[in-house]
Amino acid sequence: TGMFTYDPGFTSTGSCESAITYIDGDQGVLMHRGYKIEELAEQSNFLEVCYLLLHGELPDKAQMKSFEKNITYHTMLHEQMMYFFRGFRRDSHPMAIMCGVVGALSAFYHDSTDIRDPHQRMVAQHRLIAKMPTIASMAFKYSIGQPFVYPRNDLSYAENFLYMTFAVPAEEYKVSPVMARAMDRIFILHADHEQNASTSTVRIAGSSGANPFACIAAGIASLWGPAHGGANEAVLNMLMEIGHKDKIPEFLARAKDKDDPFRLMGFGHRVYKNYDPRAKVLRQSAYEVLEELGDSNDPLLELAMELEKIALEDPYFVEKKLFPNVDFYSGIILKAMGFPTSMFTVLFALARTVGWVAQWTEMIEDPQQKISRPRQLYKGYTERAYKPLDQRG
Ligand code: CMC
Repeated sequence: TGMFTYDPGFTSTGSCESAITYIDGDQGVLMHRGYKIEELAEQSNFLEVCYLLLHGELPDKAQMKSFEKNITYHTMLHEQMMYFFRGFRRDSHPMAIMCGVVGALSAFYHDSTDIRDPHQRMVAQHRLIAKMPTIASMAFKYSIGQPFVYPRNDLSYAENFLYMTFAVPAEEYKVSPVMARAMDRIFILHADHEQNASTSTVRIAGSSGANPFACIAAGIASLWGPAHGGANEAVLNMLMEIGHKDKIPEFLARAKDKDDPFRLMGFGHRVYKNYDPRAKVLRQSAYEVLEELGDSNDPLLELAMELEKIALEDPYFVEKKLFPNVDFYSGIILKAMGFPTSMFTVLFALARTVGWVAQWTEMIEDPQQKISRPRQLYKGYTERAYKPLDQRG
């Protein structure tokens, strides 16, 4: 059988060395490059966090200015990529469009696909971070039949994304500062989360030497699933299915029933066995956004709060250490902001791109890096003789 450890789901495998993100799941701690996520969410902004993840240090003023310039320089998409969008059915799921279009970047930007060249790697980092909001908003506009809105580089990263997504040519559109702040916070909170499924996917794809655009497309595919990035979409669908506070006990009983596949979406985490620190920040944001919209009595939020309260006191959830995770609140905020549920995972992908790119770069620059090649426990037939077709059956 050879010498290896059987470890389905890699729950006890450390696949790499990394200096980017630290998680203590028992204590509910998340830090990027030594900075606590709560502090970054309160005091920093998404582009600064991008710089921190990529370069390991917070930028000084000059470094920040030059980083912003590099990112805004790349916000436009090659005009030919419009044809790529137009090839999709108009009711395509925006995540399907994301997988295709991001992978296709490798066909448009040949001057940043040579992974051995540090300059090309840096340009690829900038391109991916800069173009992701443009691609995400275009996927949205395409799905609702509205014209694409080109980026505006005088706006902040989050403002520009909201503008490209919600502005309509015939109407005036002003980005609300509260919305922009909430958007920016959601981006910060999703920026990186060490070796989760999609990040591991990016590293595995990259370990063979594939170009960064192809690797990020692989990450997007992995993020799509409901057990990972698709969870915030699933949370909202679940809240709508529950419908009313009175129905909570019924759904809670289903979540505990081992014969029922139903799980409380937005609860539990592979690593956090305590309150997810990101969920705490977003809980506050959820209130701020709903207040700004004059919608603080949203029955869905009320239902969510009631569900949170009941689940946190329920012995099953307490014993199994199942706490609300980041997706529990992000879904509610995004809905209030006007995003359709099909866009939720797209926003996660947009924000996680910097984490993927930072981890990909760290891997490429790691002298210990090898192609990822897990082993298996073979459970199939031992050797048997081939029978010609006329002798079978
Ligand atoms: N509702 C009810 N029971 C649950 C839930 C839940 N949400 N999550 C876990 N359990 C139970 C599970 O049935 C198991 O019970 P037992 O030990 O009796 O068999 C126990 O808790 C451990 O669960 P597990 O599936 O072995 O744990 P895991 O680490 O493999 O799964 C998880 C983690 C996030 C996939 C899971 O908690 C889940 O499915 N949660 C709902 C989906 C969700 O919110 N996902 C977002 C994850 S955070 C964002 C991201 O990283 O993308």
